Parts: sequence; C-alpha cells; structure tokens
Amino acid sequence: MENKVTTLTIKKMKKEGRKIVALTAYDYTFAYLIDEAGVDLVLVGDSCGMVCAGYENTISVTMEEMLYHVRSVKNGLNRALLVADMPFLSYQVGEDEAIRNAGTFLKAGAEAVKIEGGEHVCDLVRRMVDIGIPVLGHIGLTPQSVHQFGGYRLRGKEEDEATRIKRDAVLLQEAGAFAIVLEKVPSKLAREITESLEIPTIGIGAGPYCDGQILVLYDMLGLYDKVKLKFVRRYLNLSDEVREAVRKYGDDIRNGSFPSKDESY
Ligand code: KIV
Repeated sequence: MENKVTTLTIKKMKKEGRKIVALTAYDYTFAYLIDEAGVDLVLVGDSCGMVCAGYENTISVTMEEMLYHVRSVKNGLNRALLVADMPFLSYQVGEDEAIRNAGTFLKAGAEAVKIEGGEHVCDLVRRMVDIGIPVLGHIGLTPQSVHQFGGYRLRGKEEDEATRIKRDAVLLQEAGAFAIVLEKVPSKLAREITESLEIPTIGIGAGPYCDGQILVLYDMLGLYDKVKLKFVRRYLNLSDEVREAVRKYGDDIRNGSFPSKDESY
C-alpha cells in the first residue's frame, strides 16, 4: 500500500485509471480499522447526525458536533485523506464565516472540507482554494436541501436538471475543487460528467462509471438498518449480529455463566 494519500494522490488516481475507495467514519476505532483496510479517502460526513445521533436528517448537525467527530477520526488515520463535511449553515451565511469554519476543521486535523452545492458555492470554493483549503464538491442529491427537494429522490432525471448538474460540475472544477461527490443521479449522467472532467468524481448511488465510490460506513456494514437503499451493498449484517451478541450477553448474566472463574480475579 502506497504512502499517505493527499488531494494530489486523489487527482492522480483518476489520471492513472485507479479507482478511489472512500467511506465515511465518525470515531477512532472504525477510522483505524478502515484505514488499515486500505480506504483512500475518509469523509467525516454530516450523516453522523443520522447514524450516530439519531437525528431525522443532517440539518441540525452543528460545527461542535462535527469537530468532535473529526478529531476522533483524525486519531485513527495514518494513510487515508481526511475530509470534513461542512454542516448546514456553517458555510451559507457568509464567506468569511465559512472560511473561518473550514479553517477550524483544518486545525482539528482535516485535510480538506466538503461543501454541498454547485454554481452558488463556486466563489466560496475559489476563495478557500486560494488560501490553501482543499474543497471536495458535492452535487446531485444534496441532503442539506432535503426540504427544498421535498425528499431524497433521484436528481438529474429530467433534461433541464441534468444540464444544470453538468454545468455545476464544470464550474466546481474551474473554481478549484479537487474532486466532486455525485449523489443519487442516473449512471448515464454520472458517466458524462466523469468523462468531461479532469478531476475525479466519487459516486454514491451514481452508478459504476465514477472515478471512485463512497458509502456511509454504517450502511455498508448493515449497522444502520432503519432504511434500505437500493444503491447500498451490505457487506455485513452487523445490526443483527449486535442484537444477537447482546441477547447472549444478557442470557449469560442472567443464568450466572458470565463471568466465569477464568474471567474473574
Ligand atoms: O454526509 C455524508 O455521509 C455524505 C456522503 C454520503 C457523501 O455526504
């Protein structure tokens, strides 16, 4: 496994035709496990609000909450690039405030930030990149706009929205984003965008033609089982295993078999 992954590595991987492996993480233990398993890019996603805090959506996640998760994940990583997701209202109110917040993530150990949005965030992206803050774009389904979209439907199905998303991708590249997350768009659209850009695309529910893939860790481990998404492949069924293990633990305590002599002093 090669050395430390940087934003330059991520861009180079596209040129060399190597797929980018990305996952979210929220804590130290999972961070070191997935880092050792060879993940290239770890995103501390604002999805932590849903899978760690049980919020209904990502809107209520705060900077303070994100900073706690970024610091925790930072401690577990050796090789992967660490990207911090900027939570709702941490970058929309004003550019100065956005830059201060992004800088705070870098001080906490992040190596880049992710921002949702296309054309309307490009001036901000340009300013951030100019002062040395790498930015990962995020277009297509942008969960912080769930109320605007009226749900989590596929984006870019109609011609006019597809055209807008393609344009957003080009503008983000011009503004200096080092890569772009494409969420829940048709494979054909993701392919067109991927082929038209020099920077990599990282898909989630965007089909096989992106330069890399990302999933929410708790989804692919089958740990967060409240919703079943078509685009998630579950590599484990951890939620069932956790319930079963805890049931057994309870039984062992109740029937007196835990702790045993060997487990006692
Ligand atoms: O918050 C998150 O986990 C994300 C990824 C799903 C891309 O934005």
